[in-house]
Amino acid sequence: MSALAVLGGDPIRTESYPRWPVFDQAEIQAVTETVLSGRWGGSPYPGPNTAKFAAKFSEMQGGGIAVPMMNGTITMEVALRAAGIGWGDEVIVPAYTFQATAAAPMAAGAIPVLVDVSPDSYCIDPAAVVNAITERTKAIIVVHLAAQMADMDAIMDIARAHNLVVIEDAAHAHGARWRDMGAGTIGDFGSFSLHSAKILTTGEGGVLLCKDQHMAELAASIIDCGRPKDTDKQNFTMGVNYRWSELHAALGLVALERFPGQMAQRAEMADYLEECVSEILGISMLPRDPRQTRRSQYRYILKIDPDYYQCNNDTFCYVMVKEGLPVDTGYPAMHRYDLFQPQLSHLPVPVAFPEYFKFDEMSFPIAEAASECESVWMGESIFRSGKHGVDGLVAGLQKLHDNREKLPQLAEQFAEEIEIHDQLSKMRKRR
Ligand SMILES: Cc1ncc(COP(=O)(O)O)c(C=O)c1O
Repeated sequence: MSALAVLGGDPIRTESYPRWPVFDQAEIQAVTETVLSGRWGGSPYPGPNTAKFAAKFSEMQGGGIAVPMMNGTITMEVALRAAGIGWGDEVIVPAYTFQATAAAPMAAGAIPVLVDVSPDSYCIDPAAVVNAITERTKAIIVVHLAAQMADMDAIMDIARAHNLVVIEDAAHAHGARWRDMGAGTIGDFGSFSLHSAKILTTGEGGVLLCKDQHMAELAASIIDCGRPKDTDKQNFTMGVNYRWSELHAALGLVALERFPGQMAQRAEMADYLEECVSEILGISMLPRDPRQTRRSQYRYILKIDPDYYQCNNDTFCYVMVKEGLPVDTGYPAMHRYDLFQPQLSHLPVPVAFPEYFKFDEMSFPIAEAASECESVWMGESIFRSGKHGVDGLVAGLQKLHDNREKLPQLAEQFAEEIEIHDQLSKMRKRR
């Protein structure tokens, strides 16, 4: 049995995983052409690159009217504003996601109501949604997390029964399909991020997919300082400047060309990983829901059994990283997120509605277990590194398995380093 790298042994992997984003002369040429065209900005909106990107994006995703904008947070804020949801309205969001999913309703003046996630998918639990509905509930934001999709059948049934708007936060789900319907095309709105780490990236950017033409016009108006976008060009709205630049759109057009090949590569390697780890005890995969007809791996989550390994995911990930394997523990449960603590938000919503923000009194057992005990998140680059790259990861998991008796002692010995490492990866401050 080889010694763990954290104890001075040789790490499993010394070469880095493939860099992201992928680029070559095609991106340079696209940006150069845009620079030479003199049309850099987003005004008048949409510019030619942006309009082309919008059409191709909705084609790739399988529906909706695409309104590109600056990022995948304002997409959700704009969707809520377009749907007339704002001050004092309740918006149900999952307790296990990036802070943007809850920050966006607050920016629109609405109250995010956190609910727990399902243990099988780590996506929003439909039963918890039903329990959280009140007379003030106006919308549900579901998140398709990592490679999983939320149960869209149940969510759409609930939304229809209670007349709620559904926004799919599909920041992780470019290309994913539920019953062959594209993520982000099932609810009223689909929100996509094109942030540097995302599997379709332009450095910064976001796309709002709208089911309804009128909503798309309103969204385009809101992001273009309220300029009218309806056919008569008469209806001004209250807007801001969230336009996307033509330089970003130029990168996006190339990214869309690359995307199908990269997605197929990741999917193949995720299948391979699943075959390889099925024999390692104490490790399990989130079950596949057959209704999710296409997965798209932004991240891939494994569950460890903390009793079997006698440690939590923070120690497990720390030891794996020392082996040269890029894994982390993912997001904090939303009520533990420093970035989201209402007293730091400087937003009027928590001041006006403090009864909704008693985070110390909240408990979301599944989100807490995922975040603090069992989930191990793997980056997309592992799945672009061929079988050799995946084999490295599997060898690391096997090595931790074989050395599992040492893990409780390592958790104590490296407690401080592990805490800092985990807090940094979770974007939490040390308390
Ligand atoms: C689930 C989720 N929603 C929303 C966002 C926000 O996207 P952006 O960074 O483009 O604002 C992200 C990530 O960045 C995310 O992971």
